[in-house]
Amino acid sequence: MDETSPNSHTPVLVDRLAEQIKVPRDGTVIDATVGHGGHSLLFGGALGPDGLLLGLDVDEGCIERARTRLSSLACRIVLVRENFRRIAETAAACRIRKADLIFADLGFCSGQLGESQRGLSFQENMPLDMRLDDRLDQTAADIVNGYDEKSLADLIFQYGEDRASRRIARFIVQSRSGRRIETTGELAAIISRALGQGGRGHRYRIHPATRTFQALRIAVNDELGALTALLSVGSGLLNPGGLIAVISFHSLEDRIVKLDFREKAAKGIYEILTKKPMTAAEDEVKQNPRARSAKLRIARLRMS
Ligand SMILES: C[S@@+](CC[C@H](N)C(=O)[O-])C[C@H]1O[C@@H](n2cnc3c(N)ncnc32)[C@H](O)[C@@H]1O
Repeated sequence: MDETSPNSHTPVLVDRLAEQIKVPRDGTVIDATVGHGGHSLLFGGALGPDGLLLGLDVDEGCIERARTRLSSLACRIVLVRENFRRIAETAAACRIRKADLIFADLGFCSGQLGESQRGLSFQENMPLDMRLDDRLDQTAADIVNGYDEKSLADLIFQYGEDRASRRIARFIVQSRSGRRIETTGELAAIISRALGQGGRGHRYRIHPATRTFQALRIAVNDELGALTALLSVGSGLLNPGGLIAVISFHSLEDRIVKLDFREKAAKGIYEILTKKPMTAAEDEVKQNPRARSAKLRIARLRMS
């Protein structure tokens, strides 16, 4: 697949990152979400033959794709299929004691959204899966068909921040009596019925299923748990003066990053380089609508 194919992933905020982040030529970079290697190409391009780039991703397809894309870099490259919640163990296994940059670009790649077996999109009819890592046991269909009404409503409210969570949960539970809900199309239609008619749906600027799909994806992949685990060990993996940079795409993630950086700044561990999160310029958003919701926060480990 070439980089102009519809499934190729365009990295966000590259200009902002290039302005803010400098890594030493012999430094170590950990890209916790290597994806298609777009950001790694930027960071790895600054590393010389003594530099090291470690890339993690839970998706084997992404690892293979990054391997090809990064093959021309001068630095040493290690790519590992692993969840970034295990960044410390993975770094240790690769004999990395400290890094000069830890980077995470959260969520999923554009290509994963289009993959028919992945079930992330409500625009097409796909099996209701949503696992970024196909070794996980629980799929979105298991949650949708297995949770009781209250647990479903709580999940949609907590991770989707949808105020109509109770109504959506009620419609789901009514619809599944008799047969399982197996596809993204069925679920999207149920949510549209819950919200679309009777006047509630027209208040939504986004598709009525957007928030529920976000909630299910977060739950299936334990996205907030993994992010919290990454941040909790991140500072211990940095060299003095080393940077941690995180791009998030929704307020739940951004809040976790903001609070972690603030807490560590208050303890004198980090210096925060982005008082407010950096966002994409209008031009970038025009070229890549996904950049609209991207928020970049960067912190530096203090020297002593
Ligand atoms: C937005 S994409 C990264 C794109 C990448 N920066 C690029 O320029 O190509 C996010 C990637 O993170 C991976 N991912 C999501 N959660 C993860 C986790 N907990 N551990 C490791 N990888 C994860 C996804 O599989 C996806 O490939």
